Amino acid sequence: MTSPNVTMLEQKRAAARLGGGEKRIDTQHSKGKLTARERLEILLDPNSFEEWDMFVEHRCTDFGMAEQTIPGDGVVTGYGQINGRPVFVFSQDFTVLGGSLSETHAAKIVKVMDQAMKTGIPVIGLNDSGGARIQEGVASLGGYAEVFQRNVDASGVVPQISVIMGPCAGGAVYSPAMTDFIFMVEGSSYMYVTGPDVVKTVTHEDVSHEDLGGASTHAKKSGVAHKAYANDVEALMGVRTLMSYLPQSCDDKAPEIATDDPITRKAPALDRIIPANPNQPYNMKHVISHIIDDDSFFEIHPDFAGNIITGFARMGGQSVAIIANQPMVLAGCLDINASRKAARFVRFADAFNIPLITLVDVPGFMPGTAQEYGGIIAHGAKLLFAYAEANVPKVTLITRKAYGGAYDVMSSKHLRGDVNYAWPTAEIAVMGSEGAARIIFRADSDDPEKLKQRSDDYRAKFANPFIAAKRGYIDDVIMPNNSRFRLARALNMLKGKRASRPQRKHDNLPL
Ligand code: HXC
Repeated sequence: MTSPNVTMLEQKRAAARLGGGEKRIDTQHSKGKLTARERLEILLDPNSFEEWDMFVEHRCTDFGMAEQTIPGDGVVTGYGQINGRPVFVFSQDFTVLGGSLSETHAAKIVKVMDQAMKTGIPVIGLNDSGGARIQEGVASLGGYAEVFQRNVDASGVVPQISVIMGPCAGGAVYSPAMTDFIFMVEGSSYMYVTGPDVVKTVTHEDVSHEDLGGASTHAKKSGVAHKAYANDVEALMGVRTLMSYLPQSCDDKAPEIATDDPITRKAPALDRIIPANPNQPYNMKHVISHIIDDDSFFEIHPDFAGNIITGFARMGGQSVAIIANQPMVLAGCLDINASRKAARFVRFADAFNIPLITLVDVPGFMPGTAQEYGGIIAHGAKLLFAYAEANVPKVTLITRKAYGGAYDVMSSKHLRGDVNYAWPTAEIAVMGSEGAARIIFRADSDDPEKLKQRSDDYRAKFANPFIAAKRGYIDDVIMPNNSRFRLARALNMLKGKRASRPQRKHDNLPL
């Protein structure tokens, strides 16, 4: 005879698996969205998911809620594996009361986060929620704050990744915002602090959900999202790929992934990549693809602040974080968005023991009132601060321009760059030769001939890497074709790097 408890177990499991029921599952599918459980199946290795708290139910009795209990309470939590390595997960179920967050729903999320911190295992959150469970009032708000506190406690301890796969509005946005990476899905996800109706009332702007907080908006304009994907499946596969570059925690190193691409591979094309005219751009992404292990570049923020490139890659199988000025966009200038983008990336890599490779071709900081009024001083300082405090291996290669403060900022020797190389085409100076001649030879400013001569003289003296190399600011001037080998060898040498910071409560980075 089957025990009544076993029967009840089966019934409860079936009810939890069904979530909000067939009709709501169909509605979810009709919006091009997968269900919470289908998403976990794609995210995790087959049969690796261990579910927790399937029987948790809310305790609210107001507004007819006593009749609306569904085991699991709108979020599926537990742990599983990605490429054989454990991850904690939570996946909000929009079919159950709109995935809204109740006190008990929050407690389930908090439980996996606490365990993730104890065990040094990353947390991946799949967000699809109507926000605070309206029937619960402050109990729900308290639940959010409990999650926020865990986001902060876990920051820099374990990687935290958020995928926005439906609504994420109001204060709810601040949990993903404090995680390390946010991926969004085009057309079905949106994030905003206040929705279109409130915007209309307060600022009289007419704006759609998509324009206000859709994936493109955040991936291109605000930079809140690190990547936008066409659908749920691609976003989840993107998370799997990202995880392959990351360690499990701050006490761990990223996995090494064997490669058939020899580190001795030469790239003769790089000897010809710098144009004869210093004002002509070239694509820094080509430089990246020549030096890294075959096809291993995973770009972060590909659609935001294109004047700086950030992304993970591998060299000799080792995970690296690449930061590179992009001469194709705004001549590779550092502006507010580029500084913010790169600073956060550098800090992530440093927190999780991923070496920094910096490729420099920067004419300086972006001039203009928009930049000054927007606080380029404070934002630029973030990047400087991030590089200076980073004590992971730092390898820098100057391909062409390294002018002014931007030279200092971009992982220079003076900010404790471990290995600093330059190509023979490097130009390291306070500023470009024309600007320099105009200032130091102001008396000649009415004489274009003379000014050109002065500019040529300045260029001849400084448009090379040897003055910096003479002082040891550049460790060696290397041939472009051999860059992969030289950088990989430097990284190998640096594997045992140890460096400490002064004692303090915490630093005060210019937020
Ligand atoms: C309880 C909710 C809910 C919520 C949705 N539902 N949001 N239940 N609390 N916050 C329920 C609906 O009643 C409905 O139940 C089901 O979920 C699906 O919702 P629909 O409205 O039918 O879906 P859709 O048309 O797709 O619209 C989705 C939506 C909308 C845009 C998210 O539901 C909505 O505006 N919800 C309220 C959003 C909101 O104001 N949340 C509070 C924000 S403040 P049935 O039974 O019909 O299927 C907040 C503060 C956080 O979150 C603060 C943290 C500090």
